[in-house]
Amino acid sequence: MDRLRGKTALITGAEGGLGNVIAGRFLAEGATVLGLDVLEAPRPGSILAGANAYYASVDITDENAVSAAVDAFVRDHSRPNVLVNTAGVLGPAKPGYMSTSEEFDFVFSVNVKGTWAVSKATVPHMIEAGGGSIINFSSIAGLVEEPRRWRFITLPRGRCG
Ligand SMILES: NC(=O)c1ccc[n+]([C@@H]2O[C@H](COP(=O)([O-])OP(=O)(O)OC[C@H]3O[C@@H](n4cnc5c(N)ncnc54)[C@H](O)[C@@H]3O)[C@@H](O)[C@H]2O)c1
Repeated sequence: MDRLRGKTALITGAEGGLGNVIAGRFLAEGATVLGLDVLEAPRPGSILAGANAYYASVDITDENAVSAAVDAFVRDHSRPNVLVNTAGVLGPAKPGYMSTSEEFDFVFSVNVKGTWAVSKATVPHMIEAGGGSIINFSSIAGLVEEPRRWRFITLPRGRCG
């Protein structure tokens, strides 16, 4: 239960279903966790309100806000050794040919550009620390056609790159 003592993990979408469970596992293994989510504050009773956990309310589509939050955490606490990108949105459940350009841009900006922005802000600190690991959550929908969600295919696939 102590395999990650001395390590720091940055987890996006940390108040979401997967992100919060992942944050809990890192904490249980002794890591320090910075959770990023667009919510104003952690949910009541969230693991991110507990010991060794820190929270930043950040919209990952805002490159400058992401970089400011990551830099401030590094200055005040520690450099991330692990980045887990789980923040994401599904967008409206309808076929791609019915989607609007605005809907596509919104999903793309969070799932792909947001993942890029957090990685861009984090990697220089990992390099300074001698290395690190990045885990991007995609979806089986990035590999297998879902007829009623084809607009979704490009986006999870984009996160694999
Ligand atoms: N849960 C599954 O079964 C499953 C299956 C396939 C793929 N995925 C993918 O895994 C990821 C996480 O899934 P989940 O079930 O935890 O989703 P979720 O909706 O429970 O959590 C996503 C989190 O991302 C946050 N978020 C959304 N937009 C954001 C933004 N602009 N900036 C910062 N945070 C933002 C939300 O507030 C939320 O807390 C998603 O990308 C999802 O597409 C999940």
